[in-house]
Amino acid sequence: MSTKKKYQRYTITSALPYANGPAHIGHMAGAYLPADIFVRYLRSKGEDVLFICGSDEHGTAIEIQARREGTTPREIVNKYHEILKSTFAAFNISFDVYSRTSNPGHHETAQGFFRKFLDEGKFLQKTSEQLYDPEAQMFLADRYVVGTCPNCSSTEAYGNSCERCGSDLSPDQLIDPRSKVSGSTPVKRETTHWYLPLNDYQDWLQQYILEDHNYWKSNVYGQCKSWLQQDLHPRSITRDLSWGVSVPVADAEGKVLYVWFDAPIGYISATKEWAAAKGEDWEKWWKDEDSALIHFIGKDNIVFHCIIFPAILKGHGEYIFPENVPANEFLNLEGEKISTSKNWAVWLHEYLEEFPGQTDVLRYVLTGIMPETKDANFTWEDFKTRNDSELVDTFANFVNRVKVLTVKNFDGVPVRQELTSRDTQLLNSVQEAVTAAGNDLDNFRFREALNEMMKIARAGDLYLSDLEPWKLVKTDKIAAGHVLNLGLHVAAVLATVAEPFLPETAQKIFTLLGIAPVKWGQLGETVLVPEGGQLEKIPHLFSRIDKKVVQAQVDKLERRKAEREAEKAAAEAGGAEAPSIAPVKDMTTFDDFTQMDIRIGTIVEAEKLKKSKKLLKLLVDTGLDQRIILSGVAQHFAPEELVGKQCTVLLNLPARKMAGEYSHGMVLFAEDPSGKLHLVNPEYLIPPGSTVN
Ligand code: 2FM
Ligand code: ZN
Repeated sequence: MSTKKKYQRYTITSALPYANGPAHIGHMAGAYLPADIFVRYLRSKGEDVLFICGSDEHGTAIEIQARREGTTPREIVNKYHEILKSTFAAFNISFDVYSRTSNPGHHETAQGFFRKFLDEGKFLQKTSEQLYDPEAQMFLADRYVVGTCPNCSSTEAYGNSCERCGSDLSPDQLIDPRSKVSGSTPVKRETTHWYLPLNDYQDWLQQYILEDHNYWKSNVYGQCKSWLQQDLHPRSITRDLSWGVSVPVADAEGKVLYVWFDAPIGYISATKEWAAAKGEDWEKWWKDEDSALIHFIGKDNIVFHCIIFPAILKGHGEYIFPENVPANEFLNLEGEKISTSKNWAVWLHEYLEEFPGQTDVLRYVLTGIMPETKDANFTWEDFKTRNDSELVDTFANFVNRVKVLTVKNFDGVPVRQELTSRDTQLLNSVQEAVTAAGNDLDNFRFREALNEMMKIARAGDLYLSDLEPWKLVKTDKIAAGHVLNLGLHVAAVLATVAEPFLPETAQKIFTLLGIAPVKWGQLGETVLVPEGGQLEKIPHLFSRIDKKVVQAQVDKLERRKAEREAEKAAAEAGGAEAPSIAPVKDMTTFDDFTQMDIRIGTIVEAEKLKKSKKLLKLLVDTGLDQRIILSGVAQHFAPEELVGKQCTVLLNLPARKMAGEYSHGMVLFAEDPSGKLHLVNPEYLIPPGSTVN
């Protein structure tokens, strides 16, 4: 069991995402989907649950991003808070509250914690020298200082580590350190901060985690153990920044609470916000020993949720402690680490646009590969396979068969007869899967639980294949009706077990069956779909995904990667800001694309057009004809550079008059990020007229 005792209620949190960018599949698989599955399961069991999340809107990264983009932190967080909130809603992540840490109520709560610690003498205050960017006029966290690595000479080492050789560094070790914010050389300056003396909590933490919660997942327990086997040290919990929760003492201007001090308190502020709106009590969720506090997070958040936040709660004195922290490992994408800066990610808001109505498919695939015990890998090919062979061929096939056969042959849900041994075998195997799924869900084994759900679909499908009601109906309609009655019963069980994973699909099945959603506790009942009830029409559950659709996704990733690499190379070569890449245009349609007649041609003649500085007049052999095409490239190419070259030409563009001459098509040029043009032509000479598609 994931909890030590039976609790009266569950306070469930998902890590508050930073509101400085959209969310990707790694976030979803790490902290949001597992929490939502667990919460839905608990609700189905009739437990009292509060599911809390919100945007984490503070921190150095957001302040620096605002400077870089010439905007304000407020604008950044306003934009991404909305995107994050609506993305989670679209994926049916069923938060009871999705708050934000820039809310005044949160500032008040976080400041209340700080003041209490201060008043009770539970903080240290220390003055030390820290790096300061004189140009940007700000103190720099170690990772915002870059320089040359003393070990491997990489010129891009960070003040805390070198990515190339993997060594841990301090900013002092860097050769030629420079600020990542302004490029200037940092200087040292004295500054005073408040520290949480974690060492005071070490004995208590050892008892609380290593002894009392030794049933935590091994990846989480292991990380805590390695922290707790070393001496804990005081951690500074304030920063010199202008964006954040201001330190509530006189003379602390320009100082804010460290984002990792205020963010977890955000769970409490969000609860207060929810309770105020509902006229409910917030305190029982955080102060009653009968409430189980469970944090869903990714592995990079373990120390903050297992060590630092519990120490804060302990220091405060009135709060309960996390009962469990089922952190997940990381999800990779096509074998590589997901990277926001490299744009190597499947962004959830893009998925919503490109795969409309298919949130359950992604929920299914991500649950199937959830990085529960070790890092996992998402590939588009696997996405297609799981969709086609599991959701379409097994899950949807079973439900569809029962539906079609019932509707075709019976007026409503047919009558059940006495159970045969084959029926009992079916019901037993379904019941076994239900019990196993529940056990897995209780223990945060979501992948296993999903497998059990699929066992139900398979058992149902096999039952139909064995008893062949489509044949039976011709010889013994009553027996066929009996088989379908049990098939419909299994469909109801399937929908109930599927609901935490596939909420939209489960609802469709309940609608089809004409019944209210079945709850987990009802699964032992022998009749879930009353005889005589009418089946309702529902849209298709799942459909196959075209190979081209997933290939387009892989191509998109590769294209973005190439763009990033070109940008990086250009930046390194010029030492300047990377040139910007044009953003991806809005979606076109496949039909519009195929409508364009694009061919390979040869430029036979080229000359400057007298009346224009920009236009070259090209005579192009298109394989079909020789035609005049005007191109606005006179400032990029001398005419003789183009003569004899193959090119790519769009043929079916209406003739257009420019500088007194008609152009009959368009020759395609690529513009690199620095603005230089290049002819787009085939790798090898191929006959003019060859089509491009
Ligand atoms: O890692 C992150 O994305 C953090 N914003 C998570 C914060 S969780 C909580 F403590 F608020
Ligand atoms: Zn190095």
